[in-house]
Amino acid sequence: MNKRKELYRGKAKSVYLTDDKDLLILHFRNDTSAFDGKKIEQLDKKGMVNNKFNAFIMEKLEAAGIPTHFKSILNDQESVVLALEMFPVECVVRNIAAGSICKRLGIEEGIDLDPPTFEFFLKDDARGDPMINEYHINSFGWAGPEHVVIMKELSFAVNNVLKALFREGNMLLVDYKLEFGLHNGEVVLGDEFTPDGCRLWDVDTREKLDKDRFRQDLGDVVESYQLVGKRLGLNIN
Ligand code: TMP
Ligand code: ASP
Repeated sequence: MNKRKELYRGKAKSVYLTDDKDLLILHFRNDTSAFDGKKIEQLDKKGMVNNKFNAFIMEKLEAAGIPTHFKSILNDQESVVLALEMFPVECVVRNIAAGSICKRLGIEEGIDLDPPTFEFFLKDDARGDPMINEYHINSFGWAGPEHVVIMKELSFAVNNVLKALFREGNMLLVDYKLEFGLHNGEVVLGDEFTPDGCRLWDVDTREKLDKDRFRQDLGDVVESYQLVGKRLGLNIN
């Protein structure tokens, strides 16, 4: 597998072309970003921890029948993934109220959302990733109506798999963000699933174990991601 030029540099990951046009290399950097890139820090080992955590989760999702772009781990901070044509939208599922929904709707953090709720956001840091709806996605052609249906179905399918997985590790999956793309006309889960893009709380104490530790300056960010892994039976050192 030969690594070619950088195709895209995000806030925490870089994407490289390879000599196979169907495959890309995803490089998990130590950069940790919050508030649409307004707060960025380097956290030692975070790239390695997220790369390995992501591989573990993507394999669980594949095993459950959810199509993902993940192929294999290449080295500590890199994985090989299928090249997707990404939709510029973010799919957020919420099981418990936290983060932006609390501010937006004046909801108290920690309230159970039954049934879980779903939101689309436009991937546009300069505009603060505004919330959008399906009509916007259709009118502006960000994805086809048939793709919107599948993105929602897959997002909730992920919820069933991962809520149960984290519950076994005594954690609550509060919310998470997914991104999808097309490969040969099929909607496939792309990007990553790591504690950078979800909220995880301890069931008993409701201690935050995810990127809110970074957003809220709670400390022990990477140590906490490693603890999440450990509770899932994954030792990432
Ligand atoms: P929010 O409460 O800020 O809307 O975020 C909901 C969940 O989605 C939370 O786990 C963080 C994640 N998320 C990202 O990782 N990146 C984003 O750009 C957005 C909007 C959300
Ligand atoms: N990942 C986004 C950012 O870096 C949003 C967030 O997680 O706060 O700004």
